[in-house]
Amino acid sequence: MYLQKRPRILRNNPAIRSLVAETTLTPSDFILPMFIDEGENVEFEIPSMPGYYRRSIDGIIKEVKELWSMGIKSVLLFVKAPDELKDNTGKEAWNPDGLMQKSIKAIKNAMPEMVVMTDVALDPYSVYGHDGIVENGEIVNDATVEALVKMSLSHAKAGADFVAPSDMMDGRIGAIRKALEENNFTKTGIMAYSAKYASCFYGPFRDALDSAPGFGDKKTYQMDYANRIEAVKEALMDEKEGADIVMVKPAMAYLDIIREVKNSVHIPVSAYHVSGEYALIKAAAKMGWINEEKAILESLTSIKRAGADLIATYFARDAVRLLS
Ligand code: PBG
Repeated sequence: MYLQKRPRILRNNPAIRSLVAETTLTPSDFILPMFIDEGENVEFEIPSMPGYYRRSIDGIIKEVKELWSMGIKSVLLFVKAPDELKDNTGKEAWNPDGLMQKSIKAIKNAMPEMVVMTDVALDPYSVYGHDGIVENGEIVNDATVEALVKMSLSHAKAGADFVAPSDMMDGRIGAIRKALEENNFTKTGIMAYSAKYASCFYGPFRDALDSAPGFGDKKTYQMDYANRIEAVKEALMDEKEGADIVMVKPAMAYLDIIREVKNSVHIPVSAYHVSGEYALIKAAAKMGWINEEKAILESLTSIKRAGADLIATYFARDAVRLLS
């Protein structure tokens, strides 16, 4: 054959392939989500997330130091609130001595350089397991935004570097930015969950925090997975309202959305490789049906290739280990 072009030339051997690789992962791409519990020496393996733990602050501190030494520069915090602190106002969410606030302080104290991001939504504190305040069976927007503002300010005050609203209420990014400005938190960033879909892939996470909705679903605030343009609208609105980073969530089933958002905004885009996506890989690997290590690297590389500048993933540690 006479061929003008032989694309296989660029795939000839590992050295050539690495020279022309368009996408590479590095430890500073990752944000590690952490589940925090009250008490001491608590280490609870989440049944639907094998190899992943909920820990008390002492254990979290040890882990954070280790993560930093591995090159992981950011953690995203979630807390499990005890049932007796749950109500329909979310007020425990802005308790200055609450578990989240204590955790932020403890981490920043032990490892000041670690970039601490905090989940902002009412679901861990809600008797209904919803991300907002419930009135007559509805999740009300504006009253919830007021609560989220208080929650964000209390995280900023405790020392969070970024607050990460994951609730999908309208107008919350603008309201949080305004409150941060008015209270002189001029260094606190906002990572907005801009395109967060109503997804079945959050199931294991809700086990981890015991935060499954008590009635109904989250479809009146989280997005319909049938939609793409709406994600761009949400991301552009959040950018305009003052978000520093916009997020798409979940990741693997939404690579088109990550790309579309990346092409539309002028700020970094993050993607959340969520609990159910972790569980899928773990379960198939356990059955011996896929190679776990290869699945991790292929998945995370795809998410970055789609346009994610940052990836929140439960596999951050594994990925760093596999890359080195
Ligand atoms: C709560 C929140 C959820 C996740 C992050 N923040 C669950 C939900 O919206 O029900 C999911 C994370 C994951 O599945 O890994 N607002």
